[in-house]
Amino acid sequence: MSGNVGLQEDGVVVTPCDQLNGDTVSSLQPEVVQKLILQSHQAKTFAHCPYSKFRVGAALLARDGKVYLGCNVENACYTLGTCAERTAIQTAVSEGTKEFKAIAVATDVEDEFISPCGACRQVIREFASDLEIILTKPDGSYIVKTLQQLLPFSFGPENLKTV
Ligand code: THU
Repeated sequence: MSGNVGLQEDGVVVTPCDQLNGDTVSSLQPEVVQKLILQSHQAKTFAHCPYSKFRVGAALLARDGKVYLGCNVENACYTLGTCAERTAIQTAVSEGTKEFKAIAVATDVEDEFISPCGACRQVIREFASDLEIILTKPDGSYIVKTLQQLLPFSFGPENLKTV
């Protein structure tokens, strides 16, 4: 999937990019993808990252259409920092939502698509084994991956059997 889907808002042009994976296309309506990407970049502006200076934003789309935002929240005690994706998940769950369709992730990196860290992939897995993960750049270009692609042969709640 490639080309310019045309929406411009807040200076961001949203464009699907087929550079890395031409066969994963979002199941969402293009306007839903566009909005989610813009929201992830807005969430990025809230990042608290005085130590890494690496801003990350996430916009998590729930099954009911509601969107939960998250940003990375670092701490002077470095190990206590939290990623944007997990912030969004914790916010949604703590507000009573556990079913999700997609998450858009935004950073300031211009020359590559940044993907969720392993810990975030596993936290996403707890609630959605088939989530669409939309990786974005500041210019609004994006690629779509599934959680299954990023975390194959995963361990989830249904595997927790006691003997
Ligand atoms: N970070 C995220 O928020 N999400 C990721 O998936 C990767 C990394 C944050 C954590 C830390 O605040 C900063 O980026 C640098 O690692």
